Amino acid sequence: MKAKILICLAASMACALTTLAADKLTFGFSQNGAESGWRTANTESIKSEAAKRGINLKFADAQQKQENQIKALRNFIAQGVDVIAFSPVVETGWQPVLEEIKKAKIPVVLTDRAVKVTDDSLYVTFIGSDFVEEGRRAGEWLAKASNGKAMIAELVGTPGSAPAIDRKKGFEEVLAKHPGMKIIKSQSGNFTRAQGKEVMETFLKSPDAKQITALFAHNDDMALGAIQAMEEAGIKPGKDILIVSIDGVKGAFEAMAAGKLNCTVECNPQIGPQLFDAVEAIKAGKPLPKHIPVQEGVFEQSQAAAELPNRKY
Ligand code: AHR
Repeated sequence: MKAKILICLAASMACALTTLAADKLTFGFSQNGAESGWRTANTESIKSEAAKRGINLKFADAQQKQENQIKALRNFIAQGVDVIAFSPVVETGWQPVLEEIKKAKIPVVLTDRAVKVTDDSLYVTFIGSDFVEEGRRAGEWLAKASNGKAMIAELVGTPGSAPAIDRKKGFEEVLAKHPGMKIIKSQSGNFTRAQGKEVMETFLKSPDAKQITALFAHNDDMALGAIQAMEEAGIKPGKDILIVSIDGVKGAFEAMAAGKLNCTVECNPQIGPQLFDAVEAIKAGKPLPKHIPVQEGVFEQSQAAAELPNRKY
């Protein structure tokens, strides 16, 4: 009798475990790369939130290559995941693979960067920042700090990416109102510290280098690389050249506290909780807005020391 009860108990436990495993939501996430401190914090936010909620996360890093991302998305279809999300490395070229995902009836969430498609039913929602507004905020800060007079070197993000296109657009909108502010150098540093440094070195070696009074870097990593290049060239970053960048990573706050960076416009990477709230809403059949914005601010040198202990990334 005892043995019979034990067998029944074991069988029902096994059955409960199988049901639990089957109930576990499977989620495919294609990250575009690991190019910056921002990206590392973004990945960490998504991985830790998935673990906290018991979600079965299938994670793929595309190393900044669109073809790798497309491959990963097709893999997710083949694996039959419940929901797919991705942070697209560039804006265009996604329509065909998104149509394949739609055919497979898998809902898609875009995170961090948006895409250009002719049919917006190809994704449920986009969770991310307003990059145009970030560019405007950087431009407005610089206009104020320079009294509307600046000869600007610009370090552009990954060519074709939404943040590179939109931040430039927002920044130039502000410049249009200030005839004394001009971009005299502009080149991509691909959102990495190493390329930010390299490109700044090239700027500083050019015959008109002395005209540069300000730097606008599309992210903090490139600004931090440029700061190194300036110091090696005997230029005082933050003093001889005013520097504004975007992200708000810890390294930027440290540079501000040391007087080497003047302003960082926050772009919040910690979107894990918002992402999985959206994923769970989709699974529960609840409607979602087409854009879920992320809250962010602007920080100057004077706020750096007080804010530094609060920075989580
Ligand atoms: O898409 C967000 C941008 O991508 C961040 O500003 C940058 O640091 C990252 O690489």
